[in-house]
Amino acid sequence: MLIAPSVLASDFSRLGEEIARIDRSGADWIHLDVMDGHFVPNLTFGPPVVAAVRKCTDKPFDVHLMIDDPMRYVPEFQKAGANLLTFHEEAARDPDRTIEKIRSCGMKPCMAIKPATSVETVFPYLGRLFMVLVMMVEPGFGGQRFMPEMLDKVRVLKKKKPDLLVQVDGGVNEKTAAQAARAGVDVCVAGTSVFGAPDAAAAIRALKAAGGEEPG
Ligand code: DX5
Ligand code: ZN
Repeated sequence: MLIAPSVLASDFSRLGEEIARIDRSGADWIHLDVMDGHFVPNLTFGPPVVAAVRKCTDKPFDVHLMIDDPMRYVPEFQKAGANLLTFHEEAARDPDRTIEKIRSCGMKPCMAIKPATSVETVFPYLGRLFMVLVMMVEPGFGGQRFMPEMLDKVRVLKKKKPDLLVQVDGGVNEKTAAQAARAGVDVCVAGTSVFGAPDAAAAIRALKAAGGEEPG
């Protein structure tokens, strides 16, 4: 199981150093939460900040857009150095064209769904998506409780398309990572449980061990 620490839980006054630190601590990808204050009731950062921290690591940037009309900003995130670009199905005016635009900009297209959105919503796009992000909490804030019933969506997706990458985000800790792994999750996002831990490397090793992987 891959671990993508979410910098939302990091010390923003030292964002570059925090990213370098989780890179050294064994993060597989760096998860960057972009919020616009419209799609979600919170604001974070946009392309200039992503571009500024691009030099702090060579690990893939997994950018989670929680913004309305995501298609509009695809080229800017490509220039900023995003590798995977995840948009919410609920926010896209035209999901097909958004996927195509992400792909034509050389990034991996990924689609996210909120807890109230049914898993069937993503079915028409599965052939063209690199990954589906199943939200385990309402998007907008870190530190919320994992909703285990959302793992049913993961089971459905892995049954329908075993080679599709499935990511979960929100409330992932050692205990819930084990539940996620049993449901077939490939990538766990973890904010509080990594950045809130005294030793990020130990936290990432523990998540991977919970996910069934021998720490290496
Ligand atoms: C929430 C964000 C998450 C958040 C997860 O909207 O998408 O990535 O940072 O934080 P934790 O792991 O603390 O639930
Ligand atoms: Zn996220």
